[in-house]
Amino acid sequence: MFENLTIPSNLKPNDPRFGVGPSLIPTEYVNSLHDTGVELLGTSHRKPAVKNLVKEVQDGFIQYFELTDHEVILGNGGATFLWDMIGLGLTENCSKHHVCGEFSNKWHLAHDKIPWIDTCLEKVEYGQGLQTSNSDKCDLIALTLNETSTGVQMVDVPQSDDSTIICMDATSGAGQIECNHKDVDFYYFSPQKIFAGEGGLFFGFLSEKAKERALKIQKDQKRYIPTIMDWKLAIDNSKKNQTYNTPSVSNLFFVNEQLKAMNKLGRIKINEMAQIKAQHVYNWAESKEYLSCFIQDEKFRSKSVATIDVDEKIPVSELTQKLRDQHLIYDIDSYRKLGRNQFRISMFHNVSLENLEKLTNILSHSIESVL
Ligand SMILES: Cc1ncc(COP(=O)(O)O)c(C=O)c1O
Repeated sequence: MFENLTIPSNLKPNDPRFGVGPSLIPTEYVNSLHDTGVELLGTSHRKPAVKNLVKEVQDGFIQYFELTDHEVILGNGGATFLWDMIGLGLTENCSKHHVCGEFSNKWHLAHDKIPWIDTCLEKVEYGQGLQTSNSDKCDLIALTLNETSTGVQMVDVPQSDDSTIICMDATSGAGQIECNHKDVDFYYFSPQKIFAGEGGLFFGFLSEKAKERALKIQKDQKRYIPTIMDWKLAIDNSKKNQTYNTPSVSNLFFVNEQLKAMNKLGRIKINEMAQIKAQHVYNWAESKEYLSCFIQDEKFRSKSVATIDVDEKIPVSELTQKLRDQHLIYDIDSYRKLGRNQFRISMFHNVSLENLEKLTNILSHSIESVL
């Protein structure tokens, strides 16, 4: 259908990367990394050059999120790794899950496989959000701030009590989707989204209450916890600005560059910028007959990942392939398992409003040229 598609050169974005994971890393960061020469890459993560970098990253998060009572911990393995680490080492008897897409679902499945704990499940059809809540039966509440697969954000943090730990997977929302993160006992994310890193690392903000829970479970030694998932090792190493095993130094470098840039603007400003970009994309979708917002309830529409359904007459995968071949737009396909005729678009901090405007113009132009 799109064999003869041509895009006017004035519509071309200055960066084609609109994917939600991993997200774009600014080329200036890559150049800055190059400029470190022999002083950083390939040097020991137990020596000052890398440890100072880790400390700068930890301090950068403390500043950005105005943390006062949480420790910034980090390690290898990303958010996926933490699902098991939380199930094994932070959940006493039962965890409660709020599932509205593939990532929250995978977190639930990870806990469900652990023989020593039970799980409680609240699940909605994909495309909907749900009200999060506490439960007497459970001692850990699992929340997903932004469901990257569907574009649902759930910012409400339920009231907790002394015996309940609240954990939030904030992977694709942390940095530009606001919630009461200080009420969350373990707010964690992989850095390859808004924080412009690469995959492989995790970062988390751990409350004293969650730390006590982790150390108690570990001390009781009633269950096997692999050494790589040992909470005490993660906490102790993070305190020393290290990771238990060898980290990717370039990843830390990119995250630090991004934090420096984001801290110059501050969280409030960045939230406002995210709001404006989201408004642009959703207004565009609502203004076109052949488009519709997948998330119907505006309250749950993500400010970082937009999911836009497209009329079945238009083969989205053919269009995205064509735009990719022309090096104009990369990675706006829907989450593969959703199987929808849909655009999924990153509105992460490094994707500028100007480029999003170009993207929506290109997509309108392409579709309207064949209708
Ligand atoms: C919400 C959410 N949680 C978890 C993950 C898994 O992250 P990782 O691949 O770094 O383990 C992703 C990845 O896209 C995600 O979007």
